[in-house]
Amino acid sequence: MRIANSVAFVTGANRGLGLAFAKALLAGGAAKVYAAARDPDSITLPGVIPVRLDVVNRQEIDEAARACPDVDLLINNAGVSRGSALLAAGSVEAARAEMETNFFGPLLVSRAFAPVLSRNGGGALLNVLSALSWITFPSVATYSASKAAAWSLTNGLRNELRTQGTQVAGLHVGFMDTDMAAGVDAPKSRPEDVVKLALAAIEAGEEEVLADDVSRNLKQGLSAGVYLAAPRR
Ligand SMILES: NC(=O)c1ccc[n+]([C@@H]2O[C@H](COP(=O)([O-])OP(=O)(O)OC[C@H]3O[C@@H](n4cnc5c(N)ncnc54)[C@H](OP(=O)(O)O)[C@@H]3O)[C@@H](O)[C@H]2O)c1
Repeated sequence: MRIANSVAFVTGANRGLGLAFAKALLAGGAAKVYAAARDPDSITLPGVIPVRLDVVNRQEIDEAARACPDVDLLINNAGVSRGSALLAAGSVEAARAEMETNFFGPLLVSRAFAPVLSRNGGGALLNVLSALSWITFPSVATYSASKAAAWSLTNGLRNELRTQGTQVAGLHVGFMDTDMAAGVDAPKSRPEDVVKLALAAIEAGEEEVLADDVSRNLKQGLSAGVYLAAPRR
């Protein structure tokens, strides 16, 4: 997969990491960047093609796949965090909302675009996951569950899309300096740096991107049971 001359489709491209992806794809010479957002008017980056897409809306997903038949790089970036513990008031509603956007969203979008990717030579699909796919903090426990499910989704999609030649990668990252982590007082990566690593990894044919030390250390600690340790937050 080469970024130059690719035709990319980015969900949640109006702000945060998705906007950084759209900018980097343009800078990297993508032939076309479809920038998808719930409100297409919120797409203000010159050079991209705005697309209306709420990732929980099946009709909009089908319309987007029909309207963008030349995509060969799909980036499932859109995500939400409700900041809920599992036993807090409203946790079930929070968990359902996060699962809808963070798990069913990429599942539905990937299902709709899999034939498109196939027709365009296989291409690549990147799911934006999290360090929290691998560890659970009480303050974001329902979000962690949705990102763990999205990690499993990524691994399953990799199996099922291998025969059509689609490269499937998961991006794990700790805190990033975006609206989602605005209230977090901890070191944060710059979205631009994360995107640079992720696109280089796609070009290198990699299937997993560990964008910061937090993610690298967690991955290394999985077999030792790092997720069993007392949570810090
Ligand atoms: N920030 C972090 O510390 C961090 C760490 C690890 C992973 N991540 C992941 O990185 C990805 C990008 O998040 P971010 O940090 O850029 O957060 P953000 O600044 O809050 O942006 C979230 C993006 O997702 C979009 N979105 C939310 N629900 C959507 C829906 N149903 N349909 C379509 N778009 C929707 C938002 O659109 P609207 O403007 O319409 O709300 C926005 O564009 C997410 O998957 C997130 O889970 C973030």
